[in-house]
Amino acid sequence: MKISILGATGAMGGFVIKAALQEGYLVINKISSKDNIEKLFINTDVIIDFSCPLATECMLRYIIKKRIDIPIVIGTTGLSNMHRELILQCSASIPIFYSTNMSFLISILNVMIYGISKLLGEEFDVEILDRHHKLKKDAPSGTALMFGKTIAKARGREFPDVANFVRYGIIEQRKKGEIGFSVQRCSNVIGTHEISFMGEYENIIIKHVAHSKEIFAKGAIKAAKWILKQKAGFYTMNDFTKEFMNPVFKEIYREIFIKR
Ligand SMILES: NC(=O)c1ccc[n+]([C@@H]2O[C@H](COP(=O)([O-])OP(=O)(O)OC[C@H]3O[C@@H](n4cnc5c(N)ncnc54)[C@H](OP(=O)(O)O)[C@@H]3O)[C@@H](O)[C@H]2O)c1
Repeated sequence: MKISILGATGAMGGFVIKAALQEGYLVINKISSKDNIEKLFINTDVIIDFSCPLATECMLRYIIKKRIDIPIVIGTTGLSNMHRELILQCSASIPIFYSTNMSFLISILNVMIYGISKLLGEEFDVEILDRHHKLKKDAPSGTALMFGKTIAKARGREFPDVANFVRYGIIEQRKKGEIGFSVQRCSNVIGTHEISFMGEYENIIIKHVAHSKEIFAKGAIKAAKWILKQKAGFYTMNDFTKEFMNPVFKEIYREIFIKR
């Protein structure tokens, strides 16, 4: 597999190059802000983008203008609705994978959280905490928001109706179904997420800790390998995980629930 990287000189770009080489892939084009975007598309099988919203926009517009037909994995965060529109437009003719968190474990966790929320319903109060390094600009993290949306969906609620981002001063009593968010920004923390289901007599607290940004790079390489086999369309981590989880769920059902 020949890979082109947008954002190759960045922290993530470095990890993607390392992960690609470890797996025996060829990194054919390494693009940064100093390069012409045209170079990204030369002689490559797949593109991986960990850059910034402006560079992602530039790439997407070029693809539309030149009718480029190369699968893409986008990991850049902070994209707006305009970017999403461009991604959807491109996905009509090429496969595009987009995830704000390329960790495979986070993706598994998202499915687990859906299941737990479905089983527990609104009897349990949900709180989501995200802890990240002090340079992170957005809050809550995209991953914390993703978990919140998953929980709201499992409970049959609209996310904006139940999300609570602000608690300061005199606050009202907790509303039924509320999903509370708290944010910590400190030191050089890569990324920690804690999802608490708090009941009257017992709690479930699930925690994911990222030790290195390498997990996102390795996830992006896995996604790149996978997207090569897909037809044109818009894909997320859920589509990717589904392939691995379906057989496991069937096995769990067979081994735990069916009486022999
Ligand atoms: N999805 C995930 O799992 C995940 C995980 C971690 C991070 N991220 C996201 O990935 C992105 C990159 O993170 P990072 O930590 O690697 O950032 P970074 O270290 O600041 O690197 C940014 C990269 O983008 C390039 N760039 C900036 N403006 C550009 C332009 N106009 N045209 C072309 N290239 C441009 C930079 O090139 P120069 O060196 O020339 O400036 C650099 O190579 C961020 O959006 C971050 O939030 C996503």
